[in-house]
Amino acid sequence: MNIGLDDVVAAETALSHVDGEAGRLIIRGNDLEELAGRASFEDVVAMLWSGLVPDVADPRALLGKARVRAYRHLAPLADRLNGLTPVEGMRLLLASLPDAEQDHPALAVGAAGVAAAMAVRGAQGLSPVEPDAKAGHAADILRMMRDAPVAADEAQGLDTYLVTVIDHGLNASTFTARVVASTQAGILSSVVAGLCALKGPLHGGAPGPVLDMLDSIGSVENAEAWLDDAMARGERLMGFGHRIYRVRDPRADVLMAAVGRLKGRSDRIAFAEAVEVTALKVLERRKPGRRLDTNVEFYTAILLDALGVPREGFTPLFAAGRTAGWVAHAIEQEKVGRIIRPQSRYVGAWPAEAA
Ligand code: ACO
Repeated sequence: MNIGLDDVVAAETALSHVDGEAGRLIIRGNDLEELAGRASFEDVVAMLWSGLVPDVADPRALLGKARVRAYRHLAPLADRLNGLTPVEGMRLLLASLPDAEQDHPALAVGAAGVAAAMAVRGAQGLSPVEPDAKAGHAADILRMMRDAPVAADEAQGLDTYLVTVIDHGLNASTFTARVVASTQAGILSSVVAGLCALKGPLHGGAPGPVLDMLDSIGSVENAEAWLDDAMARGERLMGFGHRIYRVRDPRADVLMAAVGRLKGRSDRIAFAEAVEVTALKVLERRKPGRRLDTNVEFYTAILLDALGVPREGFTPLFAAGRTAGWVAHAIEQEKVGRIIRPQSRYVGAWPAEAA
């Protein structure tokens, strides 16, 4: 029996493909490297949704209007966010959206951006900031989160991040979204379910611990001894290794390039890069032949930290990007028209036979 469903094909998709041996992520016929840092999030959403969602001719206006519409729904809930972590707050906000709204695909993505920003602020006891329908999606999320102007290189950094995480095959949250969609429960329910699956530390809850590790290492001089000791204790180095990639995660490369494009590189970035080099050396020495390499979370942590996002906000931003993928998968699955209903093998007790 295959408990983790490894290698089980549970859906056909035209949306994305992960090649773990080659270190390749293909999104609707394009290598990720052709999209991230080159096409805007809005344009990639339009491409991902083409043939599935009508009227994505002007995706920037579509998502801008959707953020405003979402804000109208979500702002009255702002005082409920105090005391919740950002991802809990985001879950509460997205779950509050009514099924009766029209144009759910755009609303879901607009709402995910607004909710991520609102939830990060709400966790700090800060009131929400209204969206600007004319701004780019990434720039507006960052501005709503900070309530301060956003430089062009910063907006581009978050835009690259949102594109990088937009879709990734049948990962756990996408599978969850598809299961919900297969019951015809609706797109918003698929997105909420996707977020619930994403927030676990084995999935999208991971990037914060990369920063915890960097904080604990403290200095370049300390890196090798710290990493070596951690591995001697049987601990995992955060931001390394992957179930599917046997080579470097291509998302690590595009995010590393995005970090490189930020103006005013901080010492913290240089430090993180030095830790990565050392960690790869230590992993090769301690686990020879295991092909453990850098994964998406390592540079996610460095990029989002450099953009001033608090570490508890990393998972909400991951969800803000991935929502576009969940939506596309939900629509693709709805079209299949068949409920996903696997079997379990009963290993419990049987009723006693009547004497
Ligand atoms: N540090 C040290 N050793 C590692 C690491 C790591 N980061 N990752 C795997 N290993 C070791 C394991 O201990 C194991 O060694 P062993 O067989 O001698 O015990 C071997 O490499 C194979 O590990 P698996 O458990 O088979 O790897 P799996 O595919 O199950 O795990 C995972 C993948 C969960 C990502 C793992 O590499 C890990 O825990 N990494 C650290 C956490 C992390 O960065 N998570 C984010 C992943 S990206 C994403 O999912 C969005």
